[in-house]
Amino acid sequence: MLKKTVRDLKDSELCGKRALVRADLNVPLDSNCEITDDTRIRASIPTLRYLLDRGARPVVLSHLGRPKGKPTPKYSLQPVATRLAELMPNVKVCFVETTDTDEAMKASAELGENEILVLENTRFLGGEETNDPRLARSLAELGDFFVNDAFGAAHRAHASTVGVATCLRPAVAGLLMERELEYLGKALADPIRPFVAILGGAKISGKIDVIEQLMPRVDALLIGGAMACTFFRAMELETGRSLVEEDRVEMARTLVDRAGTRIILPHDAMVAPSLEDAKHAHAVPRDGILPDEAMFDIGPRTAESYGRAIASANTVIWNGPMGVFETPPFDDGTLAIAKAMAAATSRGATTIVGGGDSAAAVARAGLDDRMSHVSTGGGASLEFLEGKKLPGVEVLDDRAAT
Ligand code: 3PG
Repeated sequence: MLKKTVRDLKDSELCGKRALVRADLNVPLDSNCEITDDTRIRASIPTLRYLLDRGARPVVLSHLGRPKGKPTPKYSLQPVATRLAELMPNVKVCFVETTDTDEAMKASAELGENEILVLENTRFLGGEETNDPRLARSLAELGDFFVNDAFGAAHRAHASTVGVATCLRPAVAGLLMERELEYLGKALADPIRPFVAILGGAKISGKIDVIEQLMPRVDALLIGGAMACTFFRAMELETGRSLVEEDRVEMARTLVDRAGTRIILPHDAMVAPSLEDAKHAHAVPRDGILPDEAMFDIGPRTAESYGRAIASANTVIWNGPMGVFETPPFDDGTLAIAKAMAAATSRGATTIVGGGDSAAAVARAGLDDRMSHVSTGGGASLEFLEGKKLPGVEVLDDRAAT
């Protein structure tokens, strides 16, 4: 870890001080604004607990949804603050409906011991997404030091992630941010071999940079999801009605040529005439897809052989589902990967699930506790795996600097 974390701060830097904590509390809500998955709220608790235990007073900033710079009631953080209070019953959690105002300032100044202040959605503020320096300065006044624990938003250069860190020091990583960077960073830089990566999802276009980054590092790169069909087309196989990115076929051909045997494509596919016609789902070899069928999942032979590859690996990283996992029976392939990874964790392998859809699939299978690490960042983990610098991390204090 090249960046300072809360654990590098001395007790005197924490006790009685207001910790301005940027968390990613961007949780899914249903139409009644009820939280449907509180994983990100739970994941932010260790840092808040750490700060409270050392006498610091956390003032929490987060975005929720994409309200485009205007207060939008359905994106209020109020339900998130309520849930946090339920999850931390011995702590007083206060909520202020405004963020960069005198009211927020007063509430942060009056914050007592064992109390947390949650401020309203940072994206209700016009300058948040443009990283407006004036907004950053007014946010910075709400704390005595800055903690960025929002790994999921670390790829966004916003006022509450980057701007505030440029005017409030110390600016350090929280415990969740540290954990995310350590797991993903070690997998890229120094994996225990054999190192297997599994990439899925609909489109190859969104994964090209990840494939480029991973290819020289992995022992095997297993491909699933609809993006396999673009590779099939590059191999001149019939893909029927499957989703194929015509403009990426040439690129898929080049990737396969360059990777040789390290890139592994599905041997078979679960196909059906359409997603609505799941009762006609059946497995076919990859060269057996008919013109009026589409691939919606990897087939059972593929699931088995990918399972064997995972069983022989010491580091496994997974990003993107193997099929349309929301629609059974096209969840079988994704489930098989999740189970194989859980078994790999049990025998001591390091297993990492990128955020977004694969994290949702693992949670749905009830196997999230059986992975070494499930990332809370969808876009952020993808950008990290693409080798991009995350602005919300870059701006934090370096460990070497004093
Ligand atoms: C996420 O859900 O990936 C993060 O909270 C970032 O949200 P955003 O894509 O709306 O910036």
